[in-house]
Amino acid sequence: MSCKDGGDLVLEADGNMLRFPAVWLRDNCPCAECLDPGSGQKLTDVTELPGALAVSGTEVAGASVVVTFAPDGHRSVFPREWLADHALDGYGDGDGRTEDDKQLWLSADLDQLPGDTWPRYLGEPANRARALDAVLRWGFVLLHDVPAEPAMVLEVAATFGFVRETNYGRLFDVRVEPRPGNLAFTSRRILPHTDNPYRDPVPTVQLLHCLRAAQKEAGGPGGETGLVDGFAAARELRATDRETFDLIAGTPVPFGYKDKSAELRASLPLIQLSPRGRIRGVRFNNRSAQPLQLPYAEVVAFYAAYRRWAELLARPGRQLNLRLAPGDCLIFDNTRVMHARTAFNVTSGRHLQGCYADLDGLASTLAVLQREEIP
Ligand code: FE2
Repeated sequence: MSCKDGGDLVLEADGNMLRFPAVWLRDNCPCAECLDPGSGQKLTDVTELPGALAVSGTEVAGASVVVTFAPDGHRSVFPREWLADHALDGYGDGDGRTEDDKQLWLSADLDQLPGDTWPRYLGEPANRARALDAVLRWGFVLLHDVPAEPAMVLEVAATFGFVRETNYGRLFDVRVEPRPGNLAFTSRRILPHTDNPYRDPVPTVQLLHCLRAAQKEAGGPGGETGLVDGFAAARELRATDRETFDLIAGTPVPFGYKDKSAELRASLPLIQLSPRGRIRGVRFNNRSAQPLQLPYAEVVAFYAAYRRWAELLARPGRQLNLRLAPGDCLIFDNTRVMHARTAFNVTSGRHLQGCYADLDGLASTLAVLQREEIP
């Protein structure tokens, strides 16, 4: 039963009383005067709504509610199901990107890695949907049997989104280079980090495709890949050391990258929170951190917190270790999952290709796949 109460709409759905303010209803009116039927986009601006809107009448019409507004007598028809789906307290800042919509993990939680084979992924939309959902839920997916050929990583990215081209090109080669501008292009150990923290917006998805693993006969293997769930670590930090968590989440850290043709800078906290204070991103890369310029006492306090955060990230059991074989392609959330590698012999021939893409495109592809799955 629907009724008006003090100018609002109040309606009962599954035993709950849902209350909708008149201005909210009117702004979401689905009639052809308010919403373009072709694009589904709003035709009116918020300044064009009458000033003192109130619900002046309601009628039930089948599965819908017809609302009449004062002062102008405008009528809107809302399906009850739509109203129940859009109940005011049902959203918060749950945009799919915060800790609330993720499955947080330690390495022991992953007895089976989220993954699939490239032929299965390509062959069935349901498999594709499952793999993309894993990136959103677990922070990564591992595709096997992607042909170990140059530039295939771009084809993998194209299955769910658009390649984010950067100063490193559309794709980048991760192998030993004679004069590397980035330690990634050496044989050194690389500790858990997120990529490109000196960019804002940061590329939110990274792909790494193994063309050639480190060869044993060349002094290897080495070059193992590690993944750390930064959201799980951040949640633990908040639970065990709130003061450090608040300091890390509240201190912007300058990051930078410079070479002959690029000079990139961004300054953001190592843990980013949503407007409602939920964990929504991590940024961690000491290689490209720049000198902090804060008051003396803040710098000292920050370093103590930074060390505690780094120690927590490095705690045993946090890192999932895997050995990428030729044809393996990792797709991961670069705002959440940190990646690392062990050192390898400089002559061992290890060669990965990587590229960047974005979570919004991936989520869009998944949403369309899920739409198609509904008969
Ligand atoms: Fe990296």
